[in-house]
Amino acid sequence: MSATTPPPRRVFIKSYGCQMNVYDAGRMADVLAPEGYAETDSMENADLVILNTCHIREKASEKVYSELGRIRALKRDKAAVGQTMQVAVAGCVAQAEGGEIMRREPIVDLVVGPQAYHRLPALLRQGRGAVDTDFPIEDKFGHLPMASREKARARGVSAFLTVQEGCDKFCTFCVVPYTRGAEVSRPVSRIIAEAEELAKAGIREITLLGQNVNAWHGSGENGAQWTLGQLMRRIAAIAGIDRIRYSTSHPADMDDALIAMHRDLKEAMPSLHLPVQSGSDRILKAMNRKHTAAQYRALIARVREARPDIALTSDFIIGFPGETDADFEATMQLVRDIGFASGYSFKYSERPGTPAAEKKNQVPEFVKTVRLAAIQALILEQQTAFNLAAVGQIVDVLFEKAGRNSGQIGGKSPHMQAVHVDGPASLIGHIARVKIIGVASNSLAGALLPVDYQTADSNTLIESVA
Ligand code: 5AD
Ligand code: SF4
Repeated sequence: MSATTPPPRRVFIKSYGCQMNVYDAGRMADVLAPEGYAETDSMENADLVILNTCHIREKASEKVYSELGRIRALKRDKAAVGQTMQVAVAGCVAQAEGGEIMRREPIVDLVVGPQAYHRLPALLRQGRGAVDTDFPIEDKFGHLPMASREKARARGVSAFLTVQEGCDKFCTFCVVPYTRGAEVSRPVSRIIAEAEELAKAGIREITLLGQNVNAWHGSGENGAQWTLGQLMRRIAAIAGIDRIRYSTSHPADMDDALIAMHRDLKEAMPSLHLPVQSGSDRILKAMNRKHTAAQYRALIARVREARPDIALTSDFIIGFPGETDADFEATMQLVRDIGFASGYSFKYSERPGTPAAEKKNQVPEFVKTVRLAAIQALILEQQTAFNLAAVGQIVDVLFEKAGRNSGQIGGKSPHMQAVHVDGPASLIGHIARVKIIGVASNSLAGALLPVDYQTADSNTLIESVA
């Protein structure tokens, strides 16, 4: 390298928490690329480390401070050999505690909230002490460069696409309305342009993201007001996009058009993540969830009528303030009655600034521990039953990567289950028909069907190696 060419700079981005942070990490890399930063997967080699943080529960935020402790040692070691490293804290902890992070951790050079990523290059130039946690009036997406085709390709065959951000629901336990701000829907034209770009780069599956994704709405190309169902249909019409999913939804925003879309649209994958949080009406009311347990059950019945094979998943908060044994039992009963493909359950975590944190009737930790173990055992039982039921079935698998063992490839079933088979690497990026033959701990084992039974997409690829 000549003395005049600056060495390429490397950025290491570590994301915590939700899928939107994964998407945002990609956009941060995109905005830094023209500044000469290439992504690295080694923190030790990085000139810039970005922690893309999560504030949803206490444990998630604590991880940031312990990671910063490790980075402090690394930065010191690098300084000892004359190397520098900038450290940025992004994401929801940055938004909620920006000033405090700067005070607590002198190694942090800058703090940038989720609405300000397009200003990262300017903040880096500003140097140590820059904090940007404004909620700007302008749309950050309008200022972020579109993911390049090469990058999309590097990200594989399945991509996230944020269509909505923020939340106006104000569940009393949740920090999201404070960290991500008010609900904003991205315009149809921008979403379609990004989806087309992803399709051209070889992406076959798109997951539309939003904190409250089914509240997305916008002015459609035909001038009519669209909700998420219409947007899904439009994206499905893009050549090359074979699978669409969306996450995360609120029960109060599941409109008829979205339910009908699950019945009509073959590209809409039969899985739905629909958090209920509790099965007790008293607790749901205290959570400000805007639905009862009976309304949730009725909604699930309508969704199942539209798409009987849909795989349902949910989130549950255990030990919300005032939760009694009877309230918890109501949650367990709801889980037993509905039958989930899997689920996420969390101990209630007091988040500063949220109404529930002020409540006097907090549930003791050991009670939360016992209840959490009970619900997790029940959900695991249901998840195991769901996976066992797949054995013997024939499913279309979108292959994403090489498997752990040589000669193996891995992908996802329509129900989001990981499936591995013995098969040619040329199938990666394609959908092939597979018979499920067994259940492993976190995945299903399958066998590729013979060519005559294959999809149009995959038969020649299989024939070529047969
Ligand atoms: N404590 C525990 N779990 C929480 N969640 C959100 N806020 C809290 C909290 N304060 C859970 C909810 C939500 C998921 C993303 O995180 O179940 O659906
Ligand atoms: Fe948080 Fe979801 Fe409730 Fe919004 S709807 S406040 S993101 S839990």
